[in-house]
Amino acid sequence: MLKHSETTNWWGKMEIIEFGLERIQSLYENTVEYNLSDSGVHPYSLREFLTPDQIEEMLDLEIGYGWTNGTVELRNSIARLYKGRNQDNVIVTNGSAEANFLMVMSLLNPGDELIVFVPNYLQIWGWAKSLGIKVVEVELREDQSWQPDLDELAKAVTLKTKMITICHPNNPSGSIMDEASMIKLVEFARSRDLYLHGDEVYKGSELSGVESPSFADLYDKAIVTSGLSKALALPGLRIGWLVGPTDFIYKAWQCKDYTSITTNTVSEYVADIALQPQKRAEILSRSRRILNENVALLGGWLETNANLFSSILPKAGGMAFVRYNMDINSTDLVHKLREERSIMLVPGDVYGKDGYIRLGVGAPKDHIEAGLSHLSDFARSNF
Ligand SMILES: Cc1ncc(COP(=O)(O)O)c(C=O)c1O
Repeated sequence: MLKHSETTNWWGKMEIIEFGLERIQSLYENTVEYNLSDSGVHPYSLREFLTPDQIEEMLDLEIGYGWTNGTVELRNSIARLYKGRNQDNVIVTNGSAEANFLMVMSLLNPGDELIVFVPNYLQIWGWAKSLGIKVVEVELREDQSWQPDLDELAKAVTLKTKMITICHPNNPSGSIMDEASMIKLVEFARSRDLYLHGDEVYKGSELSGVESPSFADLYDKAIVTSGLSKALALPGLRIGWLVGPTDFIYKAWQCKDYTSITTNTVSEYVADIALQPQKRAEILSRSRRILNENVALLGGWLETNANLFSSILPKAGGMAFVRYNMDINSTDLVHKLREERSIMLVPGDVYGKDGYIRLGVGAPKDHIEAGLSHLSDFARSNF
């Protein structure tokens, strides 16, 4: 008979917390004419992304399991994005979503405390809570330009704290830290011997063109989640990764034996092309062009509608977090816009921040124009 330890018995008591953000998108994003709920940059088609030679080469791929932690080539291409890391510091995953999932499963145990800067994507927050891990929130505030407050962080740390996690660049605000602030956060974690996890899936989309460093470049005990879905505009490939210390990466690999075993051969082939330096630079330049154009559009719209809407415009990422001045709950507002105008936005409620809506700025310009015009029209006629 197989043996298992007592500590695995928590499964029976587990209550999975609904992932509000993903649930509302899954239900409605494909039912509307103008989907502005996405947080990434409008995706490529395979035909525009690959050369005819690459398409031919792809057709000859053997559709095997390959390396379950990612092909050596792809892991090397990922490792090269980070200072002093090699293929053993990397595991390739099905999207950054699986990377976050594996990270929680392989590092945290009931009894550990996890500090989470909020608002953020809330996958790690919800999954860790579902597993019975104590999650301590530290708020990022709009009146502090959504920047981490290290005094608040210091109050949240206890002897049981194992890790701090931050989404950087931030979902939903699109804020970024400057390098000096990142180093301060790293020094904070280092001085207490804590893991520091960065969900960096929006890195590379900085509108200024200056890419932020990775926490993995600054700290040996950093763990980084990233992938191709957002800044790199290839979400359907479902390629993400974790970068971290080798023993942690090995544990994540063991855990992946239970989730998906491996990613898929075709996606890994395309992913490796995307991560070659010149191609990556080309993709990021397309992303920044789209985002800069749309953020300028949003900026103009906010000026015109300043009595109803305000936002600190994003510095990176495919979304803006917009505060509205109307007497309506954010989920109700999103459903009304969906039903009456066929526009899909994300309600602030799913971030625990009613009074805000998240608006994608990576969609085609005509979608954003239509979305904004419906939104202001709806607001003016109803409030
Ligand atoms: C911060 C963040 N991390 C992870 C994910 C998951 O993305 P994917 O699995 O497509 O890489 C998302 C998706 O919106 C996100 O915003």
